[in-house]
Amino acid sequence: MKSSAALYSLLAILPALINAQSPVWGQCGGIGWSGSTSCVSGSVCTELNDYYSQCIPSSAAPPASTSQAPSPSSTPPTTSAPGTSSAPSSTPTSGPTADNPWTGYQVYLSPYYANEVKAGAAAISDATLAAKAASVANIPTFTWFDTINKTGDLGTYLADAQSIQQSTGQKQLVQIVVYDLPDRDCAAKASNGEFSIADNGQANYENYIDQLVAQITKYPDVRVVAVIEPDSLANLVTNLNVQKCANAQTTYLACVNYALKQLSAAGVYSYMDAGHAGWLGWPANLTPAAQLFAQVYKNAGSSPFIKGLATNVANYNALSAASPDPITQGNPNYDEIHYINALGPVLAQQGFPATFIVDQGRSGQQNLRQQWGDWCNIKGAGYGTRPTTNTGSSLIDSIVWVKPGGECDGTSNSSSPRYDSTCSLSDADQPAPEAGTWFQEYFQTLVSKANPPL
Ligand code: BGC
Repeated sequence: MKSSAALYSLLAILPALINAQSPVWGQCGGIGWSGSTSCVSGSVCTELNDYYSQCIPSSAAPPASTSQAPSPSSTPPTTSAPGTSSAPSSTPTSGPTADNPWTGYQVYLSPYYANEVKAGAAAISDATLAAKAASVANIPTFTWFDTINKTGDLGTYLADAQSIQQSTGQKQLVQIVVYDLPDRDCAAKASNGEFSIADNGQANYENYIDQLVAQITKYPDVRVVAVIEPDSLANLVTNLNVQKCANAQTTYLACVNYALKQLSAAGVYSYMDAGHAGWLGWPANLTPAAQLFAQVYKNAGSSPFIKGLATNVANYNALSAASPDPITQGNPNYDEIHYINALGPVLAQQGFPATFIVDQGRSGQQNLRQQWGDWCNIKGAGYGTRPTTNTGSSLIDSIVWVKPGGECDGTSNSSSPRYDSTCSLSDADQPAPEAGTWFQEYFQTLVSKANPPL
């Protein structure tokens, strides 16, 4: 979502990458690459896939015999079979039985979002548009737990999902976003949260996770899939020059570690947020990102419930763009499929057999932005591809809607404590209310611009 600082700094070094020997972590080859194919001393040009070779420090380059990067089209490595010793001790009856957690499950519809949508549709006077708007209530999104006082609602949803499961015989899957880190949203302001590191933040966060887990373990027959902490680890890859992020680094890592371990022990399938193509998809960011995600995965015990990464959460990129948007400025990973195909093999090399989910909830229209780093209420956005496991890629478990379209990204009111000037840029829809609250005018545009149409 929020990546403009990183984007600009990378654009600034691109000419250097093209003229001289490529620096450590720089690109050094791949289809369409016209820059240097040699690397500075101490690093080795390593082919990661047909499209991308990178200068990897000699100390970090894997020995040739252990290089197991799958080609983008190959089947990703499978996770452990259920019942093996690596499964968490309190594994519910449904262990990590499938490569794809969605297979055989119906996604439970968030009543919270359905209610927002129904109210939004009821406020539309045009009958045709209102009917289309109302149909969005039947499309599954993730439910965000962005404050501790919402954790009790998870129990209500799980109980409801369990009773649907019992009455219909159709297994239910509940999709949640874990989003309450202390000093949250460290490189932006719009989504600053309730906990502060300086004020007992880590203990408060662990309590928040414990509250979620307490609900989840009451309903072991309902499957839960979680997106873990949008923006947090990506900020640790590119935004440590921001003081708030640097201060938060240790705490973010400790909190994410706690979340992953506790959720895995409760049988929750997790996907860590991995920004998007225009953020960690820049060639210089791919390997540092993969190293961080793999390290976090290993530190959390390499649980088979830690499935992989979520990309494009609350962003606007296409999964597969018809042509690169001009704002992508020559990034070979100009859409999510290129990003995933580049990142997946590096993760596998680092020992993390990750698969992906991709948010397409607001990606129906393309070429809307002035800058790729713009993330706030982008004008003219439309609902995108419907959630499906028919993804066209063995690296992608599901196309999903993570950001509930119609909920705001951030306020345009400059006197708000959470005002971020990104929300007043010319490509941001205004006036906009506080992040997470309903933005009716924006919802109506998402409906009318939906692609495919509603
Ligand atoms: C907001 C959250 C909200 C989420 C989903 C974020 O930008 O900060 O409060 O739950 O978006 O709409």
